[in-house]
Amino acid sequence: DQSLRALAARHNLYIGTAVDSAALNDPADPQYRKLVTQEFNTVTAENVMKWESLEPTRGQYNWGPADELIEFARKNKQLVRGHVLVWNNQLPAWLTEGVADGSISKTELREILKNHITTVVKHFKGKIWQWDVVNEAASDPWDSPSTIHYKGFWAQNLGEGYVADAFRWARAADPKALLFYNDYNLEAFGDRGPSDKVQFVYNMVKSLKAAGVPIDGVGSQGHLGTQYGNYDVFQVSDTLKAFTDLGLATAFTEVDVRSHTANIADSNELNPRLQASAYNHGVLLQACLSNPKCLSFTLWGVSDHHSWVPTWFDDPPEGLATVYDENYQPKKAYFELKGDL
Ligand code: XIL
Repeated sequence: DQSLRALAARHNLYIGTAVDSAALNDPADPQYRKLVTQEFNTVTAENVMKWESLEPTRGQYNWGPADELIEFARKNKQLVRGHVLVWNNQLPAWLTEGVADGSISKTELREILKNHITTVVKHFKGKIWQWDVVNEAASDPWDSPSTIHYKGFWAQNLGEGYVADAFRWARAADPKALLFYNDYNLEAFGDRGPSDKVQFVYNMVKSLKAAGVPIDGVGSQGHLGTQYGNYDVFQVSDTLKAFTDLGLATAFTEVDVRSHTANIADSNELNPRLQASAYNHGVLLQACLSNPKCLSFTLWGVSDHHSWVPTWFDDPPEGLATVYDENYQPKKAYFELKGDL
């Protein structure tokens, strides 16, 4: 068996993908289901465990699609990463509008968050390996102010204490699940200018640990772009080691390496981008393999046929971010991962 999952298992590493539930259940797209089953031993719901999907109407939970994915994973002997409990995006309108028009007070909002976390984590209790408890709490150097800070809806309304609260509530609801803080641009200290996001996240999780907050790991999303140049495996390993030296686990949780798609009909333009994408996939995987507490390596999508990149990065247009092409043919990046395993 030369699948990624079989090769990864020899390193005690779990290799995963985000799963698009619509694609998984599309009878016209059997290849998608086949690859998810064959190549990966952990899965993450790309969308169906987000707040707007689970609780589109206040107090009315829509468990169906998430339960189906968990059942699919159980049948295929795959572990599930739960994504996501607290995030500033993909919140239901009843929540954001209720806060905006003042019908939901700050006190009530905190209760709503506690309730949501408790209800969701209890519902899936025993079935989730790692939970992304808090996602993307830290700002970026290009935000204003450029000094890294707690950003967005939750920090604005509840203050930074929501992070510690969320971990405590999640632990109480399922003491066995591993609880992660998850974010992007965590590859390297000092990366992308003087506003150091990794240092901010490092300080945050260090103080959470010191305060006895039940956090088990840091998820590095790993959304890269070939236009930013190549990463260095030693640099990325050092970052993982900084976190594991605090007694935390790590994981790569959403790896993809996108490229500009202008002029890709020209193979002289296309080939270097595919090569750079493969190279950077390899850097992240090698760094993970170098760290015994890097538990899993999850790709954000199976193939370029179902990837969030073209919809989200369209000016200039980007794509080619995954390891299989539009026709489910393995790309250089797939063989790079295989070679590293
Ligand atoms: C993305 C999904 O891939 C899209 O389908 C959705 O429309 C938006 O969210 N960071 C995260 C993921 O933590 O949840 C995001 O997923 C990608 C960025």
